[in-house]
Amino acid sequence: MSERLRITVIGTGYLGATHAAAMAESGYDVLGVDIDPRKVDALSRGEVPFYEPGLPELLESNVTAGRLRFTTDFAEAAEFGDLHFIGVGTPQHPRTNAADLSQIDAVIGSLAPLLRRPCTVIGKSTVPVGTAERVREQLHALAPAGTDVDLVWNPEFLREGFAVADTLTPDRIVVGLADPAGPGEPPTRDEEVMRRVYAPMIEWGSPFLVMDYATSELVKVSANSFLATKISFINAMAEVCEATGADVTRLAEAIGYDDRIGPKFLRAGIGFGGGCLPKDIRAFMARAGELGVSDALSFLRDVDGINNRRRASTVALARELVGGRFVGKRIAVLGAAFKPDSDDVRDSPALDIAAAIYTAGGDVVVHDPQAMVNAEAAYPNMAYAGSVEEALTGADLVLLLTEWPEYTGLDPAMVVGLPSNPSILDGRNCLDVGRWRAGGWTYRGLGRPNA
Ligand code: UGA
Repeated sequence: MSERLRITVIGTGYLGATHAAAMAESGYDVLGVDIDPRKVDALSRGEVPFYEPGLPELLESNVTAGRLRFTTDFAEAAEFGDLHFIGVGTPQHPRTNAADLSQIDAVIGSLAPLLRRPCTVIGKSTVPVGTAERVREQLHALAPAGTDVDLVWNPEFLREGFAVADTLTPDRIVVGLADPAGPGEPPTRDEEVMRRVYAPMIEWGSPFLVMDYATSELVKVSANSFLATKISFINAMAEVCEATGADVTRLAEAIGYDDRIGPKFLRAGIGFGGGCLPKDIRAFMARAGELGVSDALSFLRDVDGINNRRRASTVALARELVGGRFVGKRIAVLGAAFKPDSDDVRDSPALDIAAAIYTAGGDVVVHDPQAMVNAEAAYPNMAYAGSVEEALTGADLVLLLTEWPEYTGLDPAMVVGLPSNPSILDGRNCLDVGRWRAGGWTYRGLGRPNA
């Protein structure tokens, strides 16, 4: 192992690019690896090919300092690294609910035969339980005989929009080992390597948790399942509030004061989306089926169902607000990203709702501060506005679907003259009702019919 750790990070999306920059910031020599030459070129110039606050500065300073480089060459990576982190995607399989692990298999297939020096491969991607065990066998089968290489599983918990802080100061570091030391036994070599690479984070105060592979894989998917369940719980309450005239935002506030429940992830609205929560709960259910424990996770089907219902019921409410038909109505959609501070539109509830209204004949115009390019690539036929003002102009109904500060900070009285009909459906319950009404708007939230 080198005096100064030499690290590769394979896969340079939201997870990998951030991890590579954070490792360089921690003082290591880092080589980012990706099969996409355009990504590698951009990153090599110090440019981040997606929107993530704080990452461009971190990337640029480390590229300039010479601690961080990028390549498409696996031979160079194999020759360079003491540690190889894998941060490639594990999206939903195109035809099933299971995770598609082909990118992980491709990385092992490319890297393992080229390994010559002692090294540790560290999986960070979110995977179904049992994957690490299988990848370890694959690694040993494909690496040249006698190569000193082992596999660690080290799930990542970063949130888009907060990726830099979550990586430099993680709320926990989870390390899954093939053979963790028992109580009272000295740490294994793999554990020591992981303590060394994460020393700055441990020093900062991040808890360091060592466990077996299966537990580490399950920590990640169960954390995301819990978060998804919490959001669907409050959205289920929103459905009940709609039927009873209650207000889900006051309900969430009141139950959140119980510190066993807590106020976070209790924001009712159009539901969760993104590249993680929706596909992770589906992959978890699929894996439970393979393991013969589907019943244990049958509640996740309801979590997914409640979440999908949010999109359909928001479209239905919007239809009602424009008088029963979308045809001939101009609908301004504010927000396309799955959440603010991101340009990610994967499984975005906002974009899904916009597309459903467009398909139903509405004259939809979409605006987003950062996600316009990705939204337009996904739905090239919808109309996109260059500014909030342009989107609002002539609208019969405004849908606020992603709570960007650009929208929550609007002065309702200043923009009330722009739409044909100043009526807003607040899909994230993020606006001050009193202020919008005082500004001359008709306001409707979700799960608060009388607000
Ligand atoms: C999520 C997890 O929060 C991370 O811990 C995890 O590392 C990551 O997935 C991953 O697996 O890589 P992320 O997808 O960035 O992170 O987004 P979240 O902040 O969890 O938000 C997910 C969705 O839930 C968004 O659409 C958001 O608008 C929605 N949400 C969140 C609500 O509808 N209500 C809430 O109260 C909170």
